[in-house]
Amino acid sequence: MEKFIVRGEVQLCGNVRVSGAKNATLPIMAATLLCSGISVIHDVPYLRDIQAMQDILTLLGAKICRQDHTMLIDTSNVCKAEIPEHLMREMRASVFLMGPLLGRFRKVRLSYPGGCAIGPRPINLHIKALEKIGAIVDESYGFIVAEAAELTGGEVNFDFPSVGATENAMMAAALAKGTTIIRNAAREPEIVDLQVVLNKMGAKISGAGTDTIRIDGVSRLFPAEHTVMSDRIEAGTFLMAGVITRGDIVVENIIPEYLFSVTDKLQDIGAQITAGSDYIRVKAGELRGVDIKTLPYPGFPTDLQAPMLSVVTIAKGTSIITETIFENRFKHVDELTRMGAKIKVEGRTAIIRGVQKLTGAIVAAPDLRAGSALVLAALAAEGTSEIEQVYHIERGYENIDKKLHALGANIIKV
Ligand code: UD1
Repeated sequence: MEKFIVRGEVQLCGNVRVSGAKNATLPIMAATLLCSGISVIHDVPYLRDIQAMQDILTLLGAKICRQDHTMLIDTSNVCKAEIPEHLMREMRASVFLMGPLLGRFRKVRLSYPGGCAIGPRPINLHIKALEKIGAIVDESYGFIVAEAAELTGGEVNFDFPSVGATENAMMAAALAKGTTIIRNAAREPEIVDLQVVLNKMGAKISGAGTDTIRIDGVSRLFPAEHTVMSDRIEAGTFLMAGVITRGDIVVENIIPEYLFSVTDKLQDIGAQITAGSDYIRVKAGELRGVDIKTLPYPGFPTDLQAPMLSVVTIAKGTSIITETIFENRFKHVDELTRMGAKIKVEGRTAIIRGVQKLTGAIVAAPDLRAGSALVLAALAAEGTSEIEQVYHIERGYENIDKKLHALGANIIKV
């Protein structure tokens, strides 16, 4: 199994270009199932999760070819709406396929999705949304069968603004007869990107980015061409890598507005931030502790909680980080403690007492974002660290080792 070997205490310096967003690409790939023909998606990152989605689409009958970061998906021969269990378990995002397959074939059968071990991840909100627009959903023996002679549109009120359930509902409702209104919708930028693609395909959707989305169903959708938005979570991770190494880096190909909640906290911690139209420069010296609570967008993203926790381990004073989105998202804490961090977890809150230095250790990435937290800690730590189970990190970061190396980091994959 591959691992990263990192020799720490190098201040990062230079420019890094962020890749296309994993969390935008996955639903967009699923959306191509809503029509027949060849869709073209640009800036698709090379990631394990993208490969898993590619495998599922291929199994359903799609023909996919990649030319560098452009992906062509031909859905002309898709005829199956049944996803085998082993592929569903590979990745949580496979649940996105429910909406488009139901929209196109009026019937879908799948098992419960897998994914990161960051706590129970139910799909009740996805199911509720599909039922509201006319589907009959049967859950038995570990399988979900959703069908509808006709999707009718309807009123969907979410108890919680789930990103995936909002996207699923948008995709299924795009081909429903009539209008669907989603209230308390998630407002994440990736949902706006999905709306742009669906509208290019001929859908009539408005309101993405706000808490109310309106979908006027159409009878048919067509293939489209789209460039995926850049990855704000990858961007945030690099900004934090700049801060934890007290470096000076420019993160390019981003929409700075999407990172306000992050840059705000980085300024509170003592970093200097300068933003241009498509880049952010971060420069850091002495760091001080901050309090952070993860929230749905536009709040501080749960996906950046772990790397931010690494940063505050070496900030002066005490920091308090509260995780409100997922139940089991402090798996990096034990590993960071092995590197000398002083952290106490009480329920969903971590109390971090800043130390002067972390020290290199042999650690293992427990999940995707916890893995990125360990990479950051290793960059700042005295001595050498080994990070095992890098396959978790490669689910969501394209060439993270090469990009960090280009910024001066002493990191190799072996
Ligand atoms: C997406 C992102 C993930 C991010 C998360 C929150 C993708 C591919 N993944 O995941 O990186 O961490 O948003 O920003 O875009 N919930 C329910 N019932 C449901 C659905 C969700 O209770 O039917 C709960 C979850 O257990 C979790 C919370 O809602 O506690 C947020 O989940 P959700 O917004 O759905 O996240 P995902 O779409 O899975």
